Amino acid sequence: MASASSGRRKVTVIGAGMVGGTVAQMLAIRDYADVVLVDIVEGMPQGKSLDLMQMGTLLGFDTQLTGANSYEETAGSDVIVITSGIARKPGMSRDDLLKTNMGIVESVTKQVVSSSPDAVIIVVSNPLDAMCHVAFDAAGFPRERVIGMAGVLDSARFRAFIAMEMGVSVEDVSAMVLGGHGDTMVPLSRYSTVAGVPITDLLTAERVSAIEERTAKGGAEIVGLLKTGSAYYAPGMSTVEMVDAIMLDKKRVLPCSVLLKGEYGVNDLYVGVPIKLGAGGVEQIIQLNLTSDESAALKKSSGAVKELVEAMASIRASA
Ligand SMILES: NC(=O)c1ccc[n+]([C@@H]2O[C@H](COP(=O)([O-])OP(=O)(O)OC[C@H]3O[C@@H](n4cnc5c(N)ncnc54)[C@H](O)[C@@H]3O)[C@@H](O)[C@H]2O)c1
Repeated sequence: MASASSGRRKVTVIGAGMVGGTVAQMLAIRDYADVVLVDIVEGMPQGKSLDLMQMGTLLGFDTQLTGANSYEETAGSDVIVITSGIARKPGMSRDDLLKTNMGIVESVTKQVVSSSPDAVIIVVSNPLDAMCHVAFDAAGFPRERVIGMAGVLDSARFRAFIAMEMGVSVEDVSAMVLGGHGDTMVPLSRYSTVAGVPITDLLTAERVSAIEERTAKGGAEIVGLLKTGSAYYAPGMSTVEMVDAIMLDKKRVLPCSVLLKGEYGVNDLYVGVPIKLGAGGVEQIIQLNLTSDESAALKKSSGAVKELVEAMASIRASA
């Protein structure tokens, strides 16, 4: 029998490594869109796609997965997830990744956008906020349709640490993290709650700042333990939460890296802030009232993104 052509919508995942593979797996299980996995390594995205299709018989999903080393199959994608790049190795800062991943993200974005002009792009590659700038420039899309995944993961980590500390269900914990995806991120404890009660009312100031610090170093903690590579389960699922919000037009309020144009006093920089995320991508940037300390921390974090953007400009100028 000929293979059935699917009338489902399409999500393309570029980079079929640990994070990209996890995104494909979790999306396949969700069963609402077909998935195209693209990688430069020959056979690898095809092998992972076939493996996942075979898992479908056990879990009962009909998602069609296609692996590719080129972009024909990606045409007409609704969402494009960019995870291609090299992952952070032990002892390597996110910033060390800058030069290599700049070239990779620029090239894949240019190749994918021409046949998917209406897609929403979710950038995952690190250093995250800088790679959002690269994808935004290369895509030529409006800022509403080029968004970075970092805050969802950082707040998931924050929630996990709060739940561990309090011995409560993660379901009752919500958390907010602002700023760039790096050591300068700004966990907002005042807006982080257990069953609606701010953690600043539930924990001592020492415990709150210990949890904030562990959150800010959450990625490095896992890199140190794994020794060969970085986290991918929670990053993959955090990305899928954003894909769900767009594909299912859920209008979730999630912290994401977006190009600010005056909001939070920041201009022309990708920085993590809460947004309303739906079918159109960024549907609203939500302005929180910050204390002067929180504003100063956000300013410092945006400054770190600005430094990366300037570093990229000088790399380009010297190329
Ligand atoms: N934003 C976040 O919060 C977050 C979290 C975790 C990881 N990351 C980042 O995500 C990226 C992927 O991490 P990973 O653990 O999956 O790494 P990985 O090495 O397992 O996968 C990356 C994949 O990209 C592929 N690739 C490289 N160049 C390519 C190109 N030109 N075209 C297509 N594919 C290409 C590689 O072959 C590899 O399979 C890294 O940059 C990592 O730092 C970000």
